Amino acid sequence: MNQKKTDIIVALDVQTLTDAVKLIEALGDSVEWYKVGSVLYASEGQAALAMLKKYGKKIFLDLKFHDIPNTVADAVENSCKTGVNMFTLHASGGSEMIKAAISRAGLVGKKYGIAPPLAVAVTVLTSFSQQQLLEDFGMALSAEDIVKKLVALTIKSGGKCVVASPRELPILRAEFGNEITIITPGIRPLWSAANDQNRITTPADAVRNGADFIVIGRPIIAASNPREAALKILEEIHEVQV
Ligand code: C5P
Repeated sequence: MNQKKTDIIVALDVQTLTDAVKLIEALGDSVEWYKVGSVLYASEGQAALAMLKKYGKKIFLDLKFHDIPNTVADAVENSCKTGVNMFTLHASGGSEMIKAAISRAGLVGKKYGIAPPLAVAVTVLTSFSQQQLLEDFGMALSAEDIVKKLVALTIKSGGKCVVASPRELPILRAEFGNEITIITPGIRPLWSAANDQNRITTPADAVRNGADFIVIGRPIIAASNPREAALKILEEIHEVQV
């Protein structure tokens, strides 16, 4: 049994504001957190964030910044100044980039009179298999070891929150305890397809292993009845938590 409370974040990987509104209305109060990634942000930009706020939802802005420190800091300010709860950047952008993003997030809070957005460092994408890491980057280290290094780098740079595969939860909790918040995509209930994800677990296993948040896209948004799918996942989580 896991004593932590795990929240779900639904990945709003849809093309238009109309599709997003349809989904949010269908899911109703079953879902509080939504992830706006590059798909929806590229087509609708800040209008997508304004719409979520109108519905009283919490926003995880997943644009995965990775650039020189000054550019990332400016992008953090421009994308987060209307108020988002969390935003992502790639931990592999390095220490200076992470520090610049965190520092600007603090300033954004003061300058715009909002709660400062929490910087979330993405470690290794859950779509990567061990084989691909070796073939594409010549990475001889295991995915777990690369993730551990990137989490240590994030903490050293002042970060407190990371994205990792649910498979890496046990080693991350063993190494870093509860000092970090861990968000895990790559979640697949037994009844859904894996799609392009590789390092996956079920919602129940992610919760058992100490995920703070689980991100779920296609098993909910591509379901014939998204609300039913979300409720089924929430029930699975609940059974592990209670
Ligand atoms: O549809 P699915 O559940 O696979 O969606 C997962 C979401 O999480 C996608 O929006 C993807 O961009 C995101 N993500 C991921 N792996 C990471 C970081 C983010 O799959 N390491």
